[in-house]
Parts: sequence; C-alpha cells; structure tokens
Amino acid sequence: MSTNAKGVSLAGIVKWYGKVQAVRGVDLDVAPGEMVSLLGPSGCGKTTTLRMIAGLEVPDAGEIRIGDARANDVPPWKRNIGMVFQNYALFPHKTVAENIAYGLVMRRLPRAEIATRVADAMRQVQLSGLDDRVPSQLSGGQRQRVALARALVTRPDVLLFDEPLAALDRKLREQMQVEIRQLQRAVGITTIFVTHDQDEALTLSDRIVVMEGGRIVQSGTPGEIYERPGSHFVSDFIGMMNALRATVLGREGDGRLRVRMEPGGRELLVTGPAGMDAGAAVELMLRPEKVRLNPPAAPGTIEATGTVAHVVYLGPVTYLHVRTADGVLIAMLPNAEGGGAQPRQGEAVSIGWRAADMVCFAPPDDA
Ligand SMILES: Nc1ncnc2c1ncn2[C@@H]1O[C@H](COP(=O)(O)OP(=O)(O)OP(=O)(O)O)[C@@H](O)[C@H]1O
Ligand SMILES: [Mg+2]
Repeated sequence: MSTNAKGVSLAGIVKWYGKVQAVRGVDLDVAPGEMVSLLGPSGCGKTTTLRMIAGLEVPDAGEIRIGDARANDVPPWKRNIGMVFQNYALFPHKTVAENIAYGLVMRRLPRAEIATRVADAMRQVQLSGLDDRVPSQLSGGQRQRVALARALVTRPDVLLFDEPLAALDRKLREQMQVEIRQLQRAVGITTIFVTHDQDEALTLSDRIVVMEGGRIVQSGTPGEIYERPGSHFVSDFIGMMNALRATVLGREGDGRLRVRMEPGGRELLVTGPAGMDAGAAVELMLRPEKVRLNPPAAPGTIEATGTVAHVVYLGPVTYLHVRTADGVLIAMLPNAEGGGAQPRQGEAVSIGWRAADMVCFAPPDDA
C-alpha cells in the first residue's frame, strides 16, 4: 500500500455543454486507495465527470478536491493524475519502452531513474522483454498494458480509467480486469474506473457508483448494489431480475410493508422504502438465482406451483421460465448434474423463494 494515496472529492459538480446539462450536481467522495467505478448507460455523464477530475473540462459549479487541496483551478498537467482511455493513443513510431518513458522524459528525470522506473512498470504489467517493439507489433491486450504502464510510471496520486477494455474480446477483457484489480490493490492507488459493463464494475470495484442522466442514483459495494438495488433502473442495469407487481396494504409495527401481489392476490411482508402508503403500486424485484426448484419448506419461504413455459440452457446454468398464479418467474438453476436433469417445457414444477430476497421499490415510470 502506498502511504501517500490521496482521496478525491466532488461536491455539487455541474457541467453544461451548450444547452445540454451533462452532469447535474454530483457529490462523490473517493477514499485514499479506494477503487470506485462509475457505472451507467451511454450519455449518463461518466466521461464528463472523469474529465473534470482530470482537469480536461472545467465544471460550471461545484468543487473538486484532490487530497486536501482544491483542484478546480489547477491545470491538468499539475494534478498528478494518470489516465487510461479506450483508444490508448500510443505513439506509433516509439517503442514500448519509449512510450512508457514519455511522461518521465517530459519531467526531465535523470536517465538512470527513467530506466529503472520503466523496467519496474513493465514488470508490473507483465510486458518485460517487449521493450523494443512498436505498438503495431503488439496485441490489443499488450497495447492496453503499455497504456497502463505509461499511466503508472509517473506515480500519480489518482488513476482514471475510461472504458479501457471496451475494445478487447471477452476472455482478454476478463483477464485484464483481474490484473488491473490485483495491480491496483498492490500499488494501493486511488482509482476511478468508468464502465457501462456491469460485470466489469462488479469484478473491479470496492464501490460502484451508478449514474443516470447526469446524477448519481446509488452508491455501494458490489454486493449492496446487486442485492439491494434502490430502484428499477439500478436493478435492471446490474443484472437479471424478476419484476413482480404488488399493491401496498399497509405498514406493520416492525416497519415492513404488507403487500398484495398482482395478479394472484398473495399477501406477504417485505422490507420497503419509507413513504409508501396504502394503495401505492410497487415493484417486487427478485433475482433469478434466488428462485429454487422444489424448495424445502421453511418459515419465510414463499412457494408456488406452475408450468415451465420456456427453458434456456446456458452451460453453467439453465433459466427456467415458470408460469405461476403470481406471474411468470425466471429461475436460474445451476447445472451441477448436467443441463439434461432440469425440467422440460410444459412440465409442472414447484418453485420457492424467500420473501427476504424480494426488494421493493417504486415501479418504473413507463409501467
Ligand atoms: N464536448 C461535448 N459537447 C456537447 N455535448 C457533449 C460533449 N461531451 C459530452 N456531451 C454530452 O453530455 C452528455 C454526457 O456525455 P458523457 O460523454 O459524459 O457520457 P458517458 O456516460 O461517458 O457515455 P458513454 O458510455 O457513451 O461514453 C451526453 O448527452 C453527451 O452527448
Ligand atoms: Mg464515456
């Protein structure tokens, strides 16, 4: 862990491009050494937020702090930030070693120190031995490693990534995600990683910050964001879900909501947000892997019978679409015993899930 990691803090950040308000009041504190990903759909303001931290855009309102100091008026080259982009923009005619050394040469460091630092950085990203190649002689993954080494070699206070792996194929991408995470942990550098890939965010982050329409809509550990999404938007963005309809009947003494599922009329108790009155329509979100086949009877378990409407075999798991009185529920079943062991279309099945695994929030606007 590096001892001088600096945090980043954004307070009330706003950015307009002409008549487009790209960022609409973002507050975010990234702790020293923390790895945070900004996750959200195209156009939600991720890149704009990152570019303001780097100093490449100037916010129209709000304050950016890096470490203890206000950074708003500090030019990008004085912010001591490393950036890695999707189009890694390597110098095509410079060698790998020259590309990585570039920032150090600009800073006029002694040659011996440059050589040591470049060699260290190349070892860190597993590029040793490729010093004399030029970018066209490298694979996509190797080029991305050069860009990473180039960002690390200047020993930045903060590392910013903007979809750096988007151009790589899936296997390589997953491998690089693990490598980046390990390297980030080893170096202990404060890192902000922009992505619109949920798996990438789950793999990489201490904390995921979900953005929508220029705002932060939820922030939490990967587990919190996946298990306890605060809205339809977040739960839909971060995974598959069953979205069941219900009406609020009232609130119990323990704070839980009594709801009636529509259709079906089943009544149950769920944990729900404040401010939901009797009569309000709500959505009950249930992840497919929480739905079990032939569940053991247990308190708090909801049981349903139904017919298999559709089977999707995906190798490690099979998705079973089950038509029940409560609506169609998708169950994700591990293929521990081979996919052929799962029920077939048209078969009658018994499924169940825990009421505690249902997450309750307002239905989406277009419902
Ligand atoms: N230089 C610019 N001039 C005008 N509008 C811009 C500019 N840059 C971004 N925008 C607009 O600001 C909004 C946010 O853009 P931004 O690039 O931050 O989104 P993003 O979340 O990074 O999206 P993506 O996932 O597609 O990269 C969008 O509506 C975009 O069209
Ligand atoms: Mg972007």
